Order: sequence, then structure tokens, then C-alpha cells
Amino acid sequence: MSKLSLDRILQSQGFGTRKWCRELIADGEVSIGGEVIKDYRTVFETDGLSFTIFDEDWEYREHVYIALNKPANFECSRKPSHHPGVLTLLPEQFTWRDVQPVGRLDHDTTGMLLMSDDGAFIHAQSSPRRHVPKLYVATTHAPVTDALIAQLLSGVQLHDEPAPLAAQSCRKLDEHRIEIVLEQGKYHQVKRMLAAAGNHCEALCRTMIGKLSLESLELEEGEWCFLDAAQLSLLAPE
Ligand code: URA
Repeated sequence: MSKLSLDRILQSQGFGTRKWCRELIADGEVSIGGEVIKDYRTVFETDGLSFTIFDEDWEYREHVYIALNKPANFECSRKPSHHPGVLTLLPEQFTWRDVQPVGRLDHDTTGMLLMSDDGAFIHAQSSPRRHVPKLYVATTHAPVTDALIAQLLSGVQLHDEPAPLAAQSCRKLDEHRIEIVLEQGKYHQVKRMLAAAGNHCEALCRTMIGKLSLESLELEEGEWCFLDAAQLSLLAPE
């Protein structure tokens, strides 16, 4: 349980500097339980607090855990150079809250991207010691052969890796698509593994992390949602 003044609450939720939040409050832009609050010093219990700002309803969240259905042509890097950053797909206050992607997808990879402002969560999820399976659907340039699947399952040698990397599972979906599950998250791993096995990745979509599927989230490309405790528990390793 923690009690905070309204200006601090809004600042913590990413609505701007404390000075700016005080101005929003004085301008009558913020209401709680249907009542406009104009005194920024008014104190509220943050647990379970809902507030309305610019006619939009928000819940107080100590941290945010977000899943985005990433479209192609958005970059995960903090300083995007060739395409807009994924943060531009989220409301502006998430940038103020320092929300960051959990790991990275290439600019042309689509699908499930986790994002959060909880440093411990980001660190734990991206740790190489945490063996959370990630499922991708890759579209291949050349037809999928049994030999390709066998190679990906037995392991392929990538240039800068000390040992061959193998898919945890891999199956053919159709003539030009495979489903591949990886536990590691090496740079361009799916694309490099396909290239090392003599094919080429034309398109890549991440469809599942742990037991949380993109399909279950029912997000159109470019849409995002908050993840609840039950959904977060599906991200845990086996
Ligand atoms: N593997 C890749 O090659 N690219 C991604 O974006 C994710 C996994």
C-alpha cells in the first residue's frame, strides 16, 4: 500500500514532469471517481486507483508489462536509425516511463514483442540462463526439405559461435514455411541458422514466448495490450 499526492502519481505514470502534471491538474484535466481534482496535493492510495485524464481512463500501475504485435519496419533499438522505433506504437507516457523492449526483434520481423519498465523483469526475461522457448514461423526462399528440418534439429554452425546451435523443435508447415522453436536468443539467430542450412529467410514472425501465444492476445499488427499476472506466469521457463 502506498499513498501519493496526485502530481506524483501522474508523474510516476509517465504523464510528464511534476510541473507539467501540476498544470494538468490545475486545468481540471484530471478526475478520480467522477470528481475533478484541482489540488495537486490531494493524496490517494495508489493500489487499485483509477483516474481519468484528457477523458481517457487509466489504472495506476507500479510497472507496466506489455505485449505488442510488432509490424515490420519498426526498430527495437533505443536510437532507431532507419525506421521508426517500436515505442512510437505505444502511448507517449510509456516513453516517459522508460518502457523498453525485452530483447529485440529485427526491423523486418513481426509478432510478439514484450515491453516493460520493470528492469528486474527485463533482465530476468533476457538472461541467457533463462531457457524460455520462443516459437517463430519463418517463410523460406527455397522449398522446405526434410534435410533442412533435420539440419536445424541436429545443429548448424554459425560463424561466431563456438558450437553448433540446434532448434529445440522444428517442423514443416507448408512448402515454404517452417515453425521453429529456439531457447537461445542470438543475434539474427533464425535467419542465420536458415542461411547456414542452405536456405534463406524471407519473412519471420514470433508467435509464442513460453506458453503465451500471440493468437491468444488477439492483437492486430501494431496493437498492444497490458499483460496480467496469469499471462505473465505463462512466460516462465518449464
Ligand atoms: N531470429 C532472427 O533472425 N531475427 C529475429 O528478429 C528474431 C530471431
